[in-house]
Amino acid sequence: MKQITVNTPSGSYAVVSGHGIAARAGALLEPLEPVSGVFLISSPVVWRHWGHLLGKTLQRVHDTKTILFDDRESAKTLAAVERLCRGLAQAGADRRSVIVALGGGVVGDVAGFVAASYMRGIRIVQMPTTLLAQVDSSIGGKTGVNLPEGKNLVGAFHQPRLVITDPQMLKTLPPRQYRAGLYEVIKYGVIGDEILFRFLERRLGEVLRQETAALGWVLERCIRAKAEVVSADERESGLREILNFGHTFAHALEAATRYRTLMHGEAVGWGMIGAARLSVQMNLLKQEDAARIMMLVQRVGRLPKLPALKAESLVEWMRGDKKARNGRLRMVLAERIGAVETVEDVPEEQVKNTLRELVAQGKA
Ligand SMILES: NC(=O)c1ccc[n+]([C@@H]2O[C@H](COP(=O)([O-])OP(=O)(O)OC[C@H]3O[C@@H](n4cnc5c(N)ncnc54)[C@H](O)[C@@H]3O)[C@@H](O)[C@H]2O)c1
Ligand SMILES: [Zn+2]
Repeated sequence: MKQITVNTPSGSYAVVSGHGIAARAGALLEPLEPVSGVFLISSPVVWRHWGHLLGKTLQRVHDTKTILFDDRESAKTLAAVERLCRGLAQAGADRRSVIVALGGGVVGDVAGFVAASYMRGIRIVQMPTTLLAQVDSSIGGKTGVNLPEGKNLVGAFHQPRLVITDPQMLKTLPPRQYRAGLYEVIKYGVIGDEILFRFLERRLGEVLRQETAALGWVLERCIRAKAEVVSADERESGLREILNFGHTFAHALEAATRYRTLMHGEAVGWGMIGAARLSVQMNLLKQEDAARIMMLVQRVGRLPKLPALKAESLVEWMRGDKKARNGRLRMVLAERIGAVETVEDVPEEQVKNTLRELVAQGKA
C-alpha cells in the first residue's frame, strides 16, 4: 500500500492506494476514532458491484448505514443534497459521524458537498471508483452540484480526512469510462511529469489492459502530482490552474455539444490536441513534442467525432468559461512535455485557427 500526504491550510490527510485495499476500508478508518457512525453514500450502480465488499469491511468496525442516490450528471443537484441531508438526519447522523463516499466524481462531489454542509460540516472519506475520480476529483476538496444555469455553480471547499484508492474497483468500469480517465492521466504527464509521459508511451497497452503493476505505478504518479498541486494551492489561486491544461478547449466543446456527445475526459483528449496545436502556433512548443502529445492521446482509442461546430461560437464559450478572467483568453499552454505555463491574452485569431483545425480533424 502506498501513502501520499496532502498538506493544506485546512488540514492534512493521506491518500492511500493499493490493489485490493478496499476490502480493508474498515481498518483504514480506525485512526478517525472517535466515530459515532459511518454513513456510506453511493449510487445503485456502484453499490451493485462493490456494496457487498464495502458493507462487510465497514460493518466489522462500525455500525454502517447506506444511503444510495442516482449518480447521473443530471441528478447532481441541490435536490439530491437535500434528500441526502434528510437521509442523514433521519438515520441519526451527528457531528462525530463519518461519511464514506463510494463512487465516481458525481458521488464524490455531491457527498462532499453534503459533508461540507450537514451540521456545518462533518468528516468525509473518499473512495473513488472511476479512474477520473482516483486521479483527480477525490483529491483536493472541491465539492458541489450543478444548477440549470451551469455546471458546478454551487459548492464548497471541504477536504476529505482520507482517500482510499483501489485500482481493482476499476475492473467493473465501462471501458469508455476508463479510457476517458486516461486522458486526464496523460494530462499529468504533459503538465509536469515527463517520466510518466514516457512510461505511457512505452507501456500504454498494459495500462489499457489494467495490468496491476503498470496501473498501480501510473496511479501513484498522478495522485502525487495532484496532491502536490493541491498542497501548494488549496483554493485555486494560481498553481492549481495548470491542472486546466486542455480544459479551456474541453469546456467549450462540452458546452457547445450540450454535454451529450463527449464525456469530460474525451473532451480533455480533444482539448489537449487543441492546446498542443495552439502551443506550437504560439512558438512555445516544438512541433515534435506536439506530435507526441497528439499521438499518445490518439493511441488511447478513437475519440468521438466532433460535429460541425463554428470556431466563433466555440470562442464565445471559451470567453464564458468561469476560468477566463475579464473575458480575455487566458490559457494553459505547453512549453515542452513536462512543463506548461499560463498565457494571458492569447490572440483570438490564433485560437479560432486552432479550433477550425480541431473541428476539421474531429470530422474525419
Ligand atoms: N471535485 C473535483 O475536483 C472534480 C474534478 C473533475 C471532475 N469532477 C466531477 O466529476 C464528475 C464526473 O465524474 P466521473 O468521470 O468519475 O463519472 P461519474 O461519477 O459520472 O461516473 C460515471 C458512471 O460510472 C459508474 N461507475 C462509477 N464507478 C464504477 C465502477 N467502479 N464500476 C462500474 N460503474 C461505475 C457511475 O455509476 C456512473 O454511471 C463530474 O460531475 C465532474 O464535474 C470533479
Ligand atoms: Zn478534467
